[in-house]
Amino acid sequence: MKATAVAHANIALVKYWGKRDDALHLPQAASLAVALDRLRTETSVDLGGAEDILELDGKPASPEQVQRARALLDAAGIREKARIVSRNDFPTAAGLASSASGFAALAVAACAAAGKKRSLEELSALARLGSGSAARSVPGGWAVWENESARQVFSPSHWDLRFCVAICALGPKATGSRDGMRATRESSPYHAAWIEQCRRDLPRALHLLAGKNLDGLGALAESNALRMHADALAAEPPLLYWEPATVGCLQALRSLREERVQAWATIDAGPHVVAICAPETAKQVETRLRAVSGVLDVLVCSPAEGARVVS
Ligand code: PMV
Repeated sequence: MKATAVAHANIALVKYWGKRDDALHLPQAASLAVALDRLRTETSVDLGGAEDILELDGKPASPEQVQRARALLDAAGIREKARIVSRNDFPTAAGLASSASGFAALAVAACAAAGKKRSLEELSALARLGSGSAARSVPGGWAVWENESARQVFSPSHWDLRFCVAICALGPKATGSRDGMRATRESSPYHAAWIEQCRRDLPRALHLLAGKNLDGLGALAESNALRMHADALAAEPPLLYWEPATVGCLQALRSLREERVQAWATIDAGPHVVAICAPETAKQVETRLRAVSGVLDVLVCSPAEGARVVS
C-alpha cells in the first residue's frame, strides 16, 4: 500500500489563466507547456493510517492543502487515509509551479499505492483536480491541455532547448493562482481579449514548435506571458506578481537580444523569469541573469518526461 512517484513542473508558453468551470477546473482556453527536468517533485503515498497527513518539504501542510489532496484521492476512489510525503528540488509555492509537479506525482503515486491501473489520460484528469497545470505534468514533454486531460504533442527529445529559471524571490507568493485567476476573470476589463489572444496563440505556437523556430516561439511566449500579467494587473484589486528583479531580467534579456543572443522570457503567476534559449547560448544567458540585482539563483533546465512511479 505504498508507492513513490516523480513528476516535473512545467512552464507554459501559451498560458492558462482563467477557468470556464471553477468546480471541475476546466480552462477557458487551451494552453501549451513543457516539463522541466530540474524542477522535480518526489511524492510517496502510504495508505491505511488513522488520518490524512501531508508533509511538504519536511513541514506539515496547511488544512487547505490537505483538503486538496483528499479531493484528488476521493476522485480516484481511494477511501483509505493517506500519509503523503512530498519533496521539491526547488522553492515551493513561489510561482514555480510546484503544485503542478506535486499533484501530478500525487495522482500517480496514490493510484499505484492503491493498486489502481489508470491510463495517462485518467491520471492527467485526476492531477487536474489538484491544480489545473498539473494535468500537463502527467504526460510531460510538450503538452497541450484543453479539456479533462492534457496530452503530449511532442516528446522531450523533439527539440533540445534550454530554460534558464531565474529565482527572483524566496517564499510563497501573496495570491495563489486559483484565487488570482478567478479575480482576474471576474474583474479585469481585458480578460475577454486575453482569452481570445490565447486561442490565436496556440495554433501558431504549435506550428513554430513543429518547425523548431526559436525566434518565433520565443517572441510569442514572451508576449503571451506579458499579456497574461497585463490582464492580472488590470484586475480589481490589481495583481502584481513581479519583483524588481523580474523587470531586471526582462531588461537583461532585451539587451542580450540587441547583442544577437536569442533569449526570451516567460513568467508564471510569481516573480521568477524563465528564459528560453538554445543550448549554445544557455551559459551566456545564465551569467547575464545571475548578474541582475535581486536574482538569487538560476537553474538551467531541459525538457523532461512525464510523471512515473519510481518505487
Ligand atoms: O495550475 P494552477 O491552477 O496553479 O494555475 C497555473 C497558471 C499559470 O502557471 C500562471 C499558467 C500556466 O499555464 O501554467
